[in-house]
Amino acid sequence: MKYLLYVIMGISFWACNAPSQNTALLQRQIDSLQAQLHKTYKPGLGEFMSGIQVHHNKLWFAGINRNWALADFEINEIKESLEDIKTYCADRPETKSIEMIGAPIQNVSTAIQQKDDAQFKNSFKILTATCNTCHQGTKHGFNVITIPATPPFSNQDFKAPVEK
Ligand code: HEC
Repeated sequence: MKYLLYVIMGISFWACNAPSQNTALLQRQIDSLQAQLHKTYKPGLGEFMSGIQVHHNKLWFAGINRNWALADFEINEIKESLEDIKTYCADRPETKSIEMIGAPIQNVSTAIQQKDDAQFKNSFKILTATCNTCHQGTKHGFNVITIPATPPFSNQDFKAPVEK
């Protein structure tokens, strides 16, 4: 009888304890996953901006060379980086100001679709001015963006290749 009592006590102890052991195990797994997430590399706002700077420059040379396919590619790269900023830099207060660039970007896109030189140049200037408006508004006014004078790299031809 005493033996049976021990068995019952043992089972109930196990039954009560098992779920909490599982919870503890799950918690340890969550903690370790969280620790790994903290260690994963996440580009900062400055890195996204440096990428945007290159695409902004290439966009200009693509546009003035009427390489509309490349210009379209470059403006889309900028759009992607801006989306990434919203996703990965949501904790930066400056990210709230990112929406101001939406309309100027769209106007450049329209000029590219319409293959309109004058509209391209004009909308690119407004885009560039908006980069600076945001820099000024986010205490980064010392980062002055200009219409590029030279392409960023010597190993890329901005003229559209002749269709074969
Ligand atoms: C949200 C408003 C905002 C907009 C719009 C914006 N920027 Fe920035 N930019 C910033 C902030 C904030 C920084 C500083 C980032 C940091 O802390 O490293 C920055 C930094 C930069 C830098 C310096 C990067 C470095 O590390 O050297 C460049 C270049 C740059 N931006 C280019 C541009 C260009 C080109 C555009 C327009 C196509 C643009 N930015 C639009 C807010 C903005």
